[in-house]
Amino acid sequence: MQQLQIKTLQLKNPLILAPLAGYTDLPFRLLCRTFGAALCYTEMISCHGLVYDMKKTLQMTRTVPEERPVALQLFGADPVKMGEAAAIVSGMDIDIIDINMGCPAKKVVKKGAGAALLQDPKLAAAIIQRVCDNTSLPVTVKIRTGWNHDAIVAPDFAKMAEDSGANGIAVHGRTWSQGFGGSVDWQTIARVKNNVSIPVIGNGDITAYHEASDFLEKTGCDGVMIGRGALGNPWVFTPGGTPATLAGRMQGLTHHLQLIRQYSNPDKILAKIKNHAGRYFKGITGGASMRRQIYSAPTFEALFELTRSF
Ligand SMILES: Cc1cc2nc3c(=O)[nH]c(=O)nc-3n(C[C@H](O)[C@H](O)[C@H](O)COP(=O)(O)O)c2cc1C
Repeated sequence: MQQLQIKTLQLKNPLILAPLAGYTDLPFRLLCRTFGAALCYTEMISCHGLVYDMKKTLQMTRTVPEERPVALQLFGADPVKMGEAAAIVSGMDIDIIDINMGCPAKKVVKKGAGAALLQDPKLAAAIIQRVCDNTSLPVTVKIRTGWNHDAIVAPDFAKMAEDSGANGIAVHGRTWSQGFGGSVDWQTIARVKNNVSIPVIGNGDITAYHEASDFLEKTGCDGVMIGRGALGNPWVFTPGGTPATLAGRMQGLTHHLQLIRQYSNPDKILAKIKNHAGRYFKGITGGASMRRQIYSAPTFEALFELTRSF
């Protein structure tokens, strides 16, 4: 697979971990980097939380040298605050600032952020310009194809983003109204690619390495972003693919748990860890029993012991 360059940042391959709120924390990003992802995105981070120094928001910005390069995703609808947030994170150990213009969640959209910006390209342009004015880091913008099927705006929107200073575009090939249902529109993603000269990273429903390479070939995209397909499956970033045995899957989970132990406070986030862990055993003989054992583990150490004793 070819390398990907975003402004000055050279990536070793075109495979990128998508931002997933609640999932793409530091341990998971490190895991995906180890398995071959060239770049990982943080969960979306509120510009207000950064500007007002909120503890929980600041915790989400934590990075370590081993995971670089890393992209930090900002969301918000106020150009001034987004600019201030960009200035703040530019002083952190990150490599790309991404702007979320695709999130369909009600609480985000009703404030005019995320996918709502697809309906307000002037405001979106002001946000992108303000972010670019406040950083020397590469800036990417993550969008959807449009608000609904009658308003497929991605090709024009991407051009606007390029003209406003963005150095790359990530496109999830669905509209806001689709949510996460229906099919991913590769054709519109390819049209975005043809309409801009900055790198385009396509996204949506890729669950295996070979699908990623097929997607790159068919759409002409420069990169591919993988989200849900990486959950419980960091092998999506490796040519060899997902192990077919429980033991092989267990090795991946053990590695993940080691990173969780090293970089977080596991007993405080046990439910979240079990959610990750259960996903390693989907679609495999013996998987259901393994998931039951995972969900009944009373502590993180008990869960860890389960993998060790396997
Ligand atoms: C649980 C969950 C959380 C997500 N969080 C974010 C987010 O914080 N920022 C963002 O731009 N997209 C977010 N997305 C969208 C994904 O980045 C991605 O565009 C979408 O899931 C489609 O790609 P996939 O099929 O590879 O998962 C989220 C999706 C899911 C399912």
